[in-house]
Amino acid sequence: MTNQTVKKPILVLGGTGHYGRHIVRSLVGKGDPVRVLSRNATIARQVVGDRPEIIEGDITSFESVRTSLNGATAIVISVSALKWKTIRHIDLIERDSVLKVLEEAPKAGIERVVYLSGYQLREDVIEGLKLHQFARTMQELEAALSKSNLNWTVLGCAPSMELFFAMLRKGAMMVPGGGPPALPTISPVDVGEIAAQAVLRDDLRGERFRLTGPEALSFPEAARRISAVTDRPIKFKRMPLTPIKIAAALMRPFNPFLQHLFWAIKLMNHFPQDIAAEVPAAHQLLLETFDYVPTTLEMEVRHRSEK
Ligand SMILES: NC(=O)c1ccc[n+]([C@@H]2O[C@H](COP(=O)([O-])OP(=O)(O)OC[C@H]3O[C@@H](n4cnc5c(N)ncnc54)[C@H](OP(=O)(O)O)[C@@H]3O)[C@@H](O)[C@H]2O)c1
Repeated sequence: MTNQTVKKPILVLGGTGHYGRHIVRSLVGKGDPVRVLSRNATIARQVVGDRPEIIEGDITSFESVRTSLNGATAIVISVSALKWKTIRHIDLIERDSVLKVLEEAPKAGIERVVYLSGYQLREDVIEGLKLHQFARTMQELEAALSKSNLNWTVLGCAPSMELFFAMLRKGAMMVPGGGPPALPTISPVDVGEIAAQAVLRDDLRGERFRLTGPEALSFPEAARRISAVTDRPIKFKRMPLTPIKIAAALMRPFNPFLQHLFWAIKLMNHFPQDIAAEVPAAHQLLLETFDYVPTTLEMEVRHRSEK
């Protein structure tokens, strides 16, 4: 009999999500056993394929958390409740339940934790834009990790490059508020690769990285570059913010989704340009720390047309 040690699984919370599915794919590609907690095992199987173990459950259930942690070696936290159906429970899903996971993790023998947070949580920006409610959970979780004895790493993620494509409609890029002069974005493929490498390493303890693609772009520039690759004209259109603001305020008592969307759009439009100016340095640090080929906007356009 060979004396091979069986590797313990890495638990990816939010492993079916926009970023999470790429984390799972990268880990599977490296031959590591992966476990995904999902509220719907059938859909999760379609999203992540045959290889990962899927636990059907809900992060708000202690039983699901305990089952998910049992026998795992590390956790990637990529859970989000920013959906119409779940937004009401955002504090329970994204904060209280994740805090419970962090509390249970040492008892379950978890060795590594990687948390996907916001790109940069700077107090003056949060204060100036009145985004306390929007940023509070991420701040609290980062603080909880700092105070813990866990071997943790925080990955502050820029918005997905998907943002540019989500705003394309019939030959136009329609952007609420018009966007900032420069915005960092990142391909979800790169987030997946970096997060997978991060959770497999134990020399990144207590470090925080800003995950961005190679450059910060304006929306008109992104439209021009996508147009050049696809050889199709794309007009840039700035949409007024006021209707979204009014709709968000009116809907807020019934469903706070639009309010959260409005906060995200507000942050995007007022993205601090001194932080955008640091993108080359943040990106250089990623290249020095992780082994991957960064995805440019042009590469992302080509990936999408191949799908
Ligand atoms: N997307 C971005 O542009 C962006 C930018 C900056 C930071 N981030 C951060 O990246 C992380 C992931 O974001 P994302 O956009 O990839 O999220 P997403 O696509 O909305 O995915 C949400 C994930 O959370 C899981 N989930 C939601 N409620 C759950 C519950 N009650 N129990 C168990 N799982 C639950 C979902 O799993 P099931 O549906 O399978 O149950 C899904 O896998 C978040 O921490 C977010 O703050 C994202």
